[in-house]
Formats: sequence, structure tokens, C-alpha cells
Amino acid sequence: MERKRVSTGEKHLEVVDAGEGPVLVFVHGFPLDHSVWHYQICEFARDYRVICPDLAGYGSSPAKSGHWSLSDVATDLAIMLDELKVDQPVCFCGLSMGGYVGWEFWRQFPTRLSQLVACDTRAANDSAQVQRARRVSANRVMSTGTAKVAEEMLPRLFCESNLSSELAKRICDTIARTSPDSFSKGQLAMSKREDATSWLPEIEVPTLFIVGEFDEITSPDEMQSNAELVPNSTFAQIANAGHLAPLENHVDFNRAMRLFLATGSK
Ligand code: MLT
Repeated sequence: MERKRVSTGEKHLEVVDAGEGPVLVFVHGFPLDHSVWHYQICEFARDYRVICPDLAGYGSSPAKSGHWSLSDVATDLAIMLDELKVDQPVCFCGLSMGGYVGWEFWRQFPTRLSQLVACDTRAANDSAQVQRARRVSANRVMSTGTAKVAEEMLPRLFCESNLSSELAKRICDTIARTSPDSFSKGQLAMSKREDATSWLPEIEVPTLFIVGEFDEITSPDEMQSNAELVPNSTFAQIANAGHLAPLENHVDFNRAMRLFLATGSK
């Protein structure tokens, strides 16, 4: 699987760039890396060009200096596409934090999108209580380290039947490899994100909302309500999956995604 080092100006992103055809961009959640999309890269690189970065500070990509916003991440991704000479509109598929970046990408670069996939993600921003909890978590991780946080996070990421799986162990290792600084800055960036709910009726591209049936972080009910606000939307619920639907049940996830991709772009 080809990995590329793509400059975004100040730093670079490590990016999987595999296959040929219409472009699918897969953006991971927090505090993960491209490997959460392993099964989608293998499946879709057969007939699409799959572009799957490690966001700055996660996986193998170096961190940016200073604090950053989700809007900055969307800008980095547009630069990444320029560097990779992608000039046609892309299907942007974002998981959780990657989905928050997706709303920002739509807002900044609407003409660069052909389709949008909002995966286990929400449009609303954080309540004051959640913002406070993120600030506490951002401070605490600097002394506890990410290995401890990883173990605490797992039960909310996976549904019960997948919690003891090899996949869960791999995700635990991925989180534990994230630096406390990147973990902390990610929490703060998410706590300051804008509420995208009022943007939803303006989204013209076909949009798939897809969620694990047992997702405790992003409930299927909330995602279905979000889907009803987007004029050209589809909603899919993935059985036997929690917050990491593309990894926990890749067979059903990929089937739903193929069906959506076949409906065409705007
Ligand atoms: C994620 O998976 O990216 C996070 O759960 C998002 C969040 O903490 O809101």
C-alpha cells in the first residue's frame, strides 16, 4: 500500500494513496490514525483512488506547532489534495472527529465535494459540560499519559461483543502511541468546534449518515435527526458495531457505502 509524505507547508502528512478512479478521502477519528480505515482502503482501492491521511499529530504525521482548530485541519486536507494533484470533486468520508472536519471542509470548499459520508459523528458542538470535561481530560493526559486513557476509552469505542477482539487491542495500542500533547490539543480543538446543525439544510451533495447500532458516543437517533436536515441524504445503521462501525463490521459498512456511492454525485 503506497504511503506518501505530503507537504502542507509548515509540516507534512503521511498519506495512504492507493488505487485509481474517482477519489475517496477517508479521515480518521480521535485519537486514531489511518488504520481505522484498513478494510475500506483494501476494498475501495480496487476501483477508486483512496486517499487516507494520518492527521497532524496522529499516527506517523508530525504534530503542528501550537494549537490548531478543526477548520485548520480542513485547510490542511485541501492543501494535501492540491499536492496530490486532485482537482476533481471528492467523496469525503469522516469518522467522528473526521466528520467534524468534514462539515468544515464542506463550509470552506463546497465545490471540492462530490459526496459526503458522515460516519459515527454529530453536527452539534459540545455542551458547556462536555467542553469542561474535555479541558479536564486535556490537562489530565499530560500527567497520566495516553496508555491509561486508551484503556478507559475502549468501552465507549467498541460495542460489548467486540470489546475483547484483536481489533480493540490494536486500537488501544494506536491510542497509547499518540503523544499526550496531540491528545490534549485534539480535545481542545473539538471543544471549540462550531455547531454545524444550521449548515445541514445547505448541504447539496448526496450525504450518507452511517452509524453503528450501539454507538454510545454518537447515537443512531441523533444521526437520523441530522440526516433529516440534509436534503439529499441517506441513513444507514450498522449492526453489531459501536462507535467504530467501519472497523467493527466492515462487511456491512462497505456494502452500505458501495450502495451510496452507486447512487452518483450531484
Ligand atoms: C472520535 O472518535 O473522533 C471522538 O469520539 C470524537 C469526540 O470525542 O467527540
